[in-house]
Amino acid sequence: MKKEMIYEGKAKKVWTTEDPEQLIVEYKDDATAFNGLKKGTISGKGVINNRMSNALMKRLERAGIPTHYVEELSERETLVKRVSIVPLEVIIRNISAGSFSQRYGVEEGIVFDSPTIEFSYKNDALGDPLLNTYHARALKLATEEEIETIKDYSFRINEELKAFWKGCGVTLVDFKLEFGRLSDGSIVLADEISPDTSRLWDSKTGEKLDKDRFRRDLGGVEEAYQEIMKRLEENI
Ligand code: TMP
Ligand code: ASP
Repeated sequence: MKKEMIYEGKAKKVWTTEDPEQLIVEYKDDATAFNGLKKGTISGKGVINNRMSNALMKRLERAGIPTHYVEELSERETLVKRVSIVPLEVIIRNISAGSFSQRYGVEEGIVFDSPTIEFSYKNDALGDPLLNTYHARALKLATEEEIETIKDYSFRINEELKAFWKGCGVTLVDFKLEFGRLSDGSIVLADEISPDTSRLWDSKTGEKLDKDRFRRDLGGVEEAYQEIMKRLEENI
């Protein structure tokens, strides 16, 4: 079914198929952080991220959010709709952590009264610089209508995911989303939703069950991915 590899990123490979409107995504165990400066492997991560992302996207579809998901093909491979990626990384935060805490000089763990949204320009050479929606328009990265749709979907996704993870005994701290345009121009959720792209803390102990264990050399990386996957499978 796979024809030609058209992209290899830090965590995934993308292949064409016989259908020009569909691609196959293959999840790798490779992990990077700090714009590729730190490199490593998280054994079994590709299998977990593939299954988790698909399970969550199916859930979001049921809640009325369109996604690129079509069908899980194997442990590491998924058939998705072909999109052209909107070069914006969308970050939703419910609790202070990571770059938010660093930038504004506040401790991690402050619960916000309402979620925040921020955008970065998806551009590795520039280090994914933060931008606002006016900058995004000026750079012609997306139209005003597309940005409104992306904001609306992102906050709705946050509500769905927050509620789901709460039922798993997990607090959704923050996460990153990417959106794409189908050939008809409509916006759908693309890329992945996984412990690579979300901060997930055990609700009782505050233990980190996500890629921060790798980024910050906390140890128990594989165990954290297995634990979060177990919680998901018990509740999906
Ligand atoms: P940050 O606090 O480092 O800005 O990260 C916010 C969220 O976005 C966190 O859940 C991790 C995720 N993220 C990615 O998925 N890819 C990235 O390149 C970065 C920097 C963060
Ligand atoms: N994967 C990203 C990178 O290599 C960053 C991260 O997830 O922390 O830059």
